[in-house]
Amino acid sequence: MTSYKIALLDGDGIGPEIMTEAVKVLELVGERNEINFELIHGSFGANAYFEQGHAFPEQTKALCDEADAILKGPIGLSHEESKKIPLDMQPERGALLPLRRRYNTFANFRPVFLPKGLAHFSPLKPSIIGAGIDFIIIRELVGGLYFGAKHTGVNEQGKRFVNESLEYDEEQIARIARVAFETSMKRKKVLHNIHKSNVLQSSVLWNEVLGEISQEFPEVEVRHILVDAAATYLCLNPGQFDVMVMENMFGDILSDQAGGILGSLGLMPSACIGPEKAYYEPSHGSAPDIAGQSIANPYSMIGSVAMMLEMSFSMEKEAKNCWHAMQSVFSQGYSTPDLSQPGAEVKMIDTQSFGDLVVSELAQLAC
Ligand code: IPM
Ligand code: MG
Repeated sequence: MTSYKIALLDGDGIGPEIMTEAVKVLELVGERNEINFELIHGSFGANAYFEQGHAFPEQTKALCDEADAILKGPIGLSHEESKKIPLDMQPERGALLPLRRRYNTFANFRPVFLPKGLAHFSPLKPSIIGAGIDFIIIRELVGGLYFGAKHTGVNEQGKRFVNESLEYDEEQIARIARVAFETSMKRKKVLHNIHKSNVLQSSVLWNEVLGEISQEFPEVEVRHILVDAAATYLCLNPGQFDVMVMENMFGDILSDQAGGILGSLGLMPSACIGPEKAYYEPSHGSAPDIAGQSIANPYSMIGSVAMMLEMSFSMEKEAKNCWHAMQSVFSQGYSTPDLSQPGAEVKMIDTQSFGDLVVSELAQLAC
């Protein structure tokens, strides 16, 4: 019997609730494919800091080191609560960025897909949505401003200043460009390169290296687009995009905007892939305001499981089944309070019931 060890980092806020639903899916998939998914929980984030004094405790690091893949829930606290934790131990700086750095997870895949049954939920007009929204953002995840040198101080005029640098070398750009081209080859062979080369030197090098890598993929059409223009087109004509590639900070911002055109970041799962290890996470935050109320939709967490099945365990069929099962549940008119609008005719259910329905849909699909 094949056995895979999966580290489950529940995270903060709604993390544990949506993780429970993702686990149900993993259990069914394991059972019916005769795979032993060894699921081990580890603490991570603000809860880990309060319980163990560290946002990414040694024990969790050891668990992740041994795991075949990591499934991570959202982390973070409200702005007020965050202040109770020293800056370097706040979950973003103390846990998430160290996780990305530890496993060098440079390739972040963020699919932007509007399930058919949720078309009413997008803030875009039907005429703009057209045939649907279906593209993927490939975000470089371990370079740029996030990981560049940082320096604060007081200058000669006695003024406080800060200096943070946006750093990339050609190898970092080349490897994410290759991932983007390879992804394009599996889709429509149109790649939008997002940059700001009219101002930033980093984008000049980015475009240069991407141009060199494009020689290896002559079938892919590259379209260059400035990041600010891309933000506009995400609202005006998202249908033109298929694969978009960009550096870390641009990717952070545009992927939230992409969640916005779907109607919610709750529809944004993701995969973070490194040379040896991958972890999977919803792109959204921990939503402390709705935590514990069983109203959060587990879509992004189950979507992250689907990405794990495909990308870490080559279980393409089951991955597709997970997407399909979630779409069916929406298409039957079910949704959770966080993914519904006042006035919409929705059969309102809670987090657990949504997870249960996904599992029963999945059980009916051949593996
Ligand atoms: C994301 C998040 C993180 C990021 C935060 C939590 C540090 O916004 O994954 O998009 O900025 O990368
Ligand atoms: Mg973000």
